[in-house]
Amino acid sequence: MDITFAKLSHPSVGGLITLAAENAGLTVTAVQLDRKMRGALKRAMEAEKFTGKNGQLLVILAPAGLRADRVILVGVGKGKAFDSGTAERLGGHVLGKLKSLGVRHAALAADPIFGSALEASDIAAHMAYGASLRGYQFDRYKTKRPKASTARLRKLTIMTSNPSKARSTYKPLAGIANGVFLTRNLVSEPANILFPAELADRAKALHDDKIKVEVLMPTKMRELGMGALLGVAQGSAHEPRMVVMQWQGAPSHADQTPIAFVGKGVTFDTGGISIKPSAGMEDMKWDMGGAGVVIGLMRALAQRKARTNAVGVVGLVENMPSGTAQRPGDIVTSMSGQTIEVLNTDAEGRLVLADALWYTQDRFKPRFMVDLATLTGAIIVSLGNKRAGLFCNDEGLTQQLMAAGEMVGEKLWPMPIDDTYDADIDCDIADMKNIGSGRGAGSVTAAKFLQRFVNNRTPWAHLDIAGVTWSKKEQMLVPKGGTGFGVRLLDRLVAENYETQ
Ligand code: BES
Ligand code: MN
Ligand code: ZN
Repeated sequence: MDITFAKLSHPSVGGLITLAAENAGLTVTAVQLDRKMRGALKRAMEAEKFTGKNGQLLVILAPAGLRADRVILVGVGKGKAFDSGTAERLGGHVLGKLKSLGVRHAALAADPIFGSALEASDIAAHMAYGASLRGYQFDRYKTKRPKASTARLRKLTIMTSNPSKARSTYKPLAGIANGVFLTRNLVSEPANILFPAELADRAKALHDDKIKVEVLMPTKMRELGMGALLGVAQGSAHEPRMVVMQWQGAPSHADQTPIAFVGKGVTFDTGGISIKPSAGMEDMKWDMGGAGVVIGLMRALAQRKARTNAVGVVGLVENMPSGTAQRPGDIVTSMSGQTIEVLNTDAEGRLVLADALWYTQDRFKPRFMVDLATLTGAIIVSLGNKRAGLFCNDEGLTQQLMAAGEMVGEKLWPMPIDDTYDADIDCDIADMKNIGSGRGAGSVTAAKFLQRFVNNRTPWAHLDIAGVTWSKKEQMLVPKGGTGFGVRLLDRLVAENYETQ
């Protein structure tokens, strides 16, 4: 789908979209259309009791006096509440409607909305951004197009009085969207295509965004003593990798200490010898979701030229049962020197992150570390698919993450990590075991395990994204499939708190 900006006009398109605020006068474009339609727009509004409530849609088919096949009126709600986030969600909402109507080319008139703080060019840019996020499709493996989708939306023209201003507001937003799309692509790829070495190669493409990318091979990882990560990898025919990405966007006078993001990249999680049941195991192709977010986030930061220094580190392995696989009861030594009794080979993500976190902290001494992982099924029991779990050792970082999440609609919920949970992973014969003792609080014991690989002077947050990485239904800004949850959240965290002005 192509998104372009143009001057306001009344083009011949499949769908001509115009906005309406709740219980307010019509926009300039709506007044013009109503006149050309000899009052049919107002009559339709009355007949359908269209008040302009946020998200309300009114479709008028084959309007007389116009070249468009449909006029679509979109309620934006109260002018005062119409902010950039609302504009983005509405852009996505409109796109969902255009998809279901089978419109090929649509044009949206972004008129100013009375009472809103947004300029028309902001409305145009943010609606375009929302539409592009919702319009994403993963169709790499479709060799034939079903008939109906030949009528797929090809082109969306956003019309506004100042297209060049809208274009420049849109540019950084499009950079963030490109990051989200990269994440969604990676998460959607099947595990026969996307194994650790291939995922590392995809990360290397970030060279084009002026990101420095290093790939650590198994020999190097052995030298560094990453026994926890290597133990998980040893059952697979595919070698593990660790990828280190660096974006240097801070101006020269600024503090050069980077912020750091760390991702779990299990390209497929069978559970290993503690094998998972077969039903639904295909979902475990997206067990590299945390790594996918870190890679997409790096692209987003680079493409919008964030004025910050950021590093991304991802640990990439495949968790397989085999003659060389790690056994329940094996004891491994992590890079930190701490030993771990692996009582369940399916609790592998924390083993990968243990070494990735330690390595990141040891090498970069970052201002903070945020890790993302599809870590536990238990977080889905706790929070479902509406919010990701937030575990954090620092009150300030907790507040910043919570606020960023609310702003972009990628919401978090704080979970406990107090020391009363810590004894649960103590072990009789090693420093710790990789699962808790009882059945409860599985997400918390997983977080406590990770915390043992972070020195508590570094602000650290762990986001358990197991419930939000994949969506079975469409959402305002998300089609079915990989969501990219985390990219917009962490991009906003950076924009609000960690950029030099
Ligand atoms: N990748 C899974 C967690 C997961 C489950 C993500 C369902 C998305 C959907 C993780 O590696 C895992 O298997 N966790 C175990 C931990 C248990 C063995 C302590 C779990 O949650 O069951
Ligand atoms: Mn597992
Ligand atoms: Zn896993």
